Amino acid sequence: MITSLVPATGAAVDDDALHRIYAYPATDRPYVRFNFVAAADGAATSGGFSAGLGNDGDQRIFAVLRRLADVVLVGAGTIRAEGYGGDLVDGDARSWRRAHGLAAHPAVAVISGSLGLDPESDFFRKAPVRPLVLTSAAAPADRRAGLERVADVVDCGADTVDTRALLAELGRRGLLRVLCEGGPAVLGGFTRFGAVDELCLSISPLLVGGDGPRIAVGTGPEHPVGLALSSLLTEDSALYTLYRRAG
Ligand SMILES: NC(=O)c1ccc[n+]([C@@H]2O[C@H](COP(=O)([O-])OP(=O)(O)OC[C@H]3O[C@@H](n4cnc5c(N)ncnc54)[C@H](OP(=O)(O)O)[C@@H]3O)[C@@H](O)[C@H]2O)c1
Repeated sequence: MITSLVPATGAAVDDDALHRIYAYPATDRPYVRFNFVAAADGAATSGGFSAGLGNDGDQRIFAVLRRLADVVLVGAGTIRAEGYGGDLVDGDARSWRRAHGLAAHPAVAVISGSLGLDPESDFFRKAPVRPLVLTSAAAPADRRAGLERVADVVDCGADTVDTRALLAELGRRGLLRVLCEGGPAVLGGFTRFGAVDELCLSISPLLVGGDGPRIAVGTGPEHPVGLALSSLLTEDSALYTLYRRAG
């Protein structure tokens, strides 16, 4: 049965409602939420960045998702492209988090096999909490030594970062509400291992063309995962979807 979601109530969705909609379910293991923005034609970047795709509503939801998370997890490619220097949440969010029993700042974890990350970059220098670098035993020793000065560097696998070992490490640290902000290679990898619980996908009313990636890429076999729509919001012709793994 096809049903119509638009027009809907038209009532404004305030921050309290956003907190309810995006609240993590109770969990005793790392629960993995991905957040992405894509153009209507599927492009996950414009000019090499995601920033050109979002609008104000997307930014509002982006901030709410960070506010609710124990850890923000990102791939090294996204760190290299987008920087990620400085606080990930603002002062209001820090107050809200403290009042709700969370650490003022979410932890931040980056996945990197090569350890091709600059220890002098703003990501490390301006981080409000010591970052976690999730790598493998095969990572170059000299780069590891450089990063160990500024981050906790943890092996999660022998030759490559094993998704299950990564999640076990987050679980050991009590980081159960996982917000993964990409990028496409990380979503592709987690999809392959059936490790995606949720996808928050903002769809921008834009055609981008070009050859930018879609939100999940990978070289491994396909691993289709059924999703169920949990929420659909809209502002200025953008759609903000919340999908949960079906079943
Ligand atoms: N539209 C959106 O919402 C959105 C969100 C995020 C990012 N982006 C865009 O996506 C682009 C970056 O995406 P990307 O796919 O190139 O990078 P990515 O997914 O952020 O990171 C890929 C990197 O993560 C590391 N990695 C991931 N899985 C690994 C594994 N199993 N074992 C070892 N290392 C692993 C590797 O790092 P090393 O190379 O260091 O080994 C790999 O090169 C940027 O243009 C960014 O702006 C868009």
